[in-house]
Amino acid sequence: MSATNGGHNVGGVIYPQPFKIRRLGHFGFNVGNLDASVDFYTRLFGFRLTDEIDIGAFEFMREAAKKMKETRIFFLTYGTDHHAFLLADKTMGAFLGDSGPDGDVTLNQITWQVGTLEEVVKADDYLRTRNVEMRRTGRDMPGSNWHCYFRDPDGHTIELYYGMEQIGWDGRSKPRAMYDRRFDEKPALPQISEQQEVADAVARGVDIFSGQRVADTGQAKYNVGGVMLPRPFKVTRIGPIALFCKDVGASEAFFTESLGFVKTEEANYRGQTVRYLRNGTEHHSLVLAPRALRDTLGLSSHTTNMSMGFELGSYQQLRDAVAYLKQNGVRFTDAIPPELYPGIDYAAHAIDPDGHCLQLYCYMEQIGWDGKPRPASQRRKVSADWPETLPPLSDTYADQTFQGPLG
Ligand SMILES: [Fe+2]
Repeated sequence: MSATNGGHNVGGVIYPQPFKIRRLGHFGFNVGNLDASVDFYTRLFGFRLTDEIDIGAFEFMREAAKKMKETRIFFLTYGTDHHAFLLADKTMGAFLGDSGPDGDVTLNQITWQVGTLEEVVKADDYLRTRNVEMRRTGRDMPGSNWHCYFRDPDGHTIELYYGMEQIGWDGRSKPRAMYDRRFDEKPALPQISEQQEVADAVARGVDIFSGQRVADTGQAKYNVGGVMLPRPFKVTRIGPIALFCKDVGASEAFFTESLGFVKTEEANYRGQTVRYLRNGTEHHSLVLAPRALRDTLGLSSHTTNMSMGFELGSYQQLRDAVAYLKQNGVRFTDAIPPELYPGIDYAAHAIDPDGHCLQLYCYMEQIGWDGKPRPASQRRKVSADWPETLPPLSDTYADQTFQGPLG
């Protein structure tokens, strides 16, 4: 992959960066009460626990661990990725330098998938030339993904990764005996494939089926499109992620110029400009809003996370999810008005135990070859009373391609 006329060859296509972000892969919250959050996101939202580690058990962390209230990290998923969501304690985030200059960064990572391992390695070199604050490059277990970690202008930890471990029908993650291929430095290329790693583990006598088994212990009493599940909906995608930024122009420059995001549009709300960025056909996967908007909206001052999106499998599921979550005591807020989520029609905003705002929705406008969003006048008019059914738009369910069974 060599620089070509000032550009970079990504699989035979010349881009300004030596990588191309494909999608939001995972994210994590640092929380005040880890057990309460794990319960909230697993029991009520259906995220499944794939692994749990206790970094206090590592010899090199033993002293540092004494400064943390909690040293466990929980790995959760909604699909086949080993993790789509991580939960850790705020004291760990503060110790690891993830809490930002003002102590209000509660996202422990915002992680984007690229296409190849080579893209991850080249990203490390490239971002260093742009004076991005690099944190570490290598490969972590659990999860097996190769990555580089760095910071955005607000101190959010951003990660690019390739090769997330996939959890299949048997629900088992890789056993610890297969953690031998962990890297804490940039790997030399090429590396052996995962198939070879599995074959090597079998050859040395590892019981490759001895990893943690994912299980949803809720009682399956809801019919979701013909299958009985423990709750009347399924999270089928994560994102968009919305951030409050100190200097929204600097953040936009960072995400577009250094990472290759494309701006779809801006919204002006009470004198403040919010920017909507994407990587693919989605209207937006990242929202950058000025920090002052947090006070205007009355959202929790403990976090720079304006909202975290969870796409649900259908409009019916969205309606049922709101009713189910309210029945189960989840608080909802109207703090974020529809003007601030162009490209999404019906949405509801739930509040997690720490005050994070969760955006539940089922439709994301799709951007075609010409890069133009749908004119606002042609978007669906959202009514305060949600109708029972909706007519389809040209791109309704266009991104609902969840792989595998819903539960
Ligand atoms: Fe990660």
